[in-house]
Amino acid sequence: MPHRIAVFPGDGIGPEVTAEAVATLRCAASERFDFIHFPHGAERALATGETISAGELAAVRADHAAVFLGALGDARIPDHRHARDILLGMRRQFDLYLNYRPARLRGPALTPLKGLGAGDIDLVIFRENTEGLYVDIGGRLRPDTPDEVAFSQMVTTRSVTERLVRAAFAEARTRPRARCCLISKHNAVTHTYGLWLRVFREVAVTFPDVVAEVLFVDTAAMELVRDPGRFDVIVASNLFGDILSDLAAQLVGGLGLAPSGNLNLEPGRRFGLFEPVHGSAPDLVGTGRANPLAACLSAAMMARFLGEADVAVRIERACDAAIASGETTPDLGGALDTRAAGDAIRARLEA
Ligand code: NAD
Ligand code: IPM
Ligand code: MN
Repeated sequence: MPHRIAVFPGDGIGPEVTAEAVATLRCAASERFDFIHFPHGAERALATGETISAGELAAVRADHAAVFLGALGDARIPDHRHARDILLGMRRQFDLYLNYRPARLRGPALTPLKGLGAGDIDLVIFRENTEGLYVDIGGRLRPDTPDEVAFSQMVTTRSVTERLVRAAFAEARTRPRARCCLISKHNAVTHTYGLWLRVFREVAVTFPDVVAEVLFVDTAAMELVRDPGRFDVIVASNLFGDILSDLAAQLVGGLGLAPSGNLNLEPGRRFGLFEPVHGSAPDLVGTGRANPLAACLSAAMMARFLGEADVAVRIERACDAAIASGETTPDLGGALDTRAAGDAIRARLEA
């Protein structure tokens, strides 16, 4: 039976890059995937007033093996309500507690840093994906007055944190350098990051074969630029993971080639939503400059998650080959448009 994939092309360049990812999966193994497209995004929200209903969310989870999403974000919805309902809604509703965001350097031309070559950066961010400062709990006092006060609550749950930290250490154990780094701010944000730190230390003692390290987020940002090669598995709260994943992406070539998975790895509850790290890039819509690699590499990640490792490897090798030969969009120095860059990947799949 083919895997049923719920496809949300979304907004901006989302549909452009999603079309390339779907075409690439079809080209690699058309018989193994069925794609069911969902129109939910800014256009539909503006036309109908609806973002996504609880029933639709439940059906996405019940009737599909995974979700593929392009991007959500549109200037006509300045409060980002549809992105919160659809994307953050699925992350939370499907309990996709791990946002898995790898960054690996493929060659010296791709990094803005001096003296680094292929493999010198090879890290993965385990971003907490369902709580932290993203719980959308807060409010305003004396709104729209000079005395206005706004507050946003950060929530950290021991069980949620421990599940993520354990997954990070388990991943570190499988990697050659076996290092796991917590990125924290317990010196200033004491309650929530204090819990993060205690959980991290408790889990660390149960993984004596993994080197555990704790860095404050400000130092971590600096260290990522100074010596990115020291990082292996990084575990971070929702907001810090969001920020540092764009930084890590740029160290290895930019958002144009950064894939991600939003995952629940628990037996019986396994599910994944796969998407590029980048957003809807309104500056690129319709220009043909949107790099489809992030979406195609996210599709490969999805294939691996679904047990189709051979498909994943073939797509990843085809992407690597297209990058190595310079057949890319301008963000990576190439001269191809989005469709042609996708074709360059697929040409190498068939070869
Ligand atoms: P963005 O990621 O859309 O763009 C940031 C920069 O990266 C821009 O210069 C853009 O041109 C470039 N870029 C992004 N994707 C690219 C690609 N595939 N190829 C080449 N260059 C690429 O971030 P932003 O501009 O801050 O946000 C735009 C909208 O996207 C906002 O509404 C934001 O909320 C939303 N957003 C959504 C997601 C998501 O759906 N997961 C992620 C990030 C941002
Ligand atoms: C991401 C995005 C989202 C996030 C936005 C669109 C809410 O930046 O997936 O990285 O912050 O998680
Ligand atoms: Mn982000």
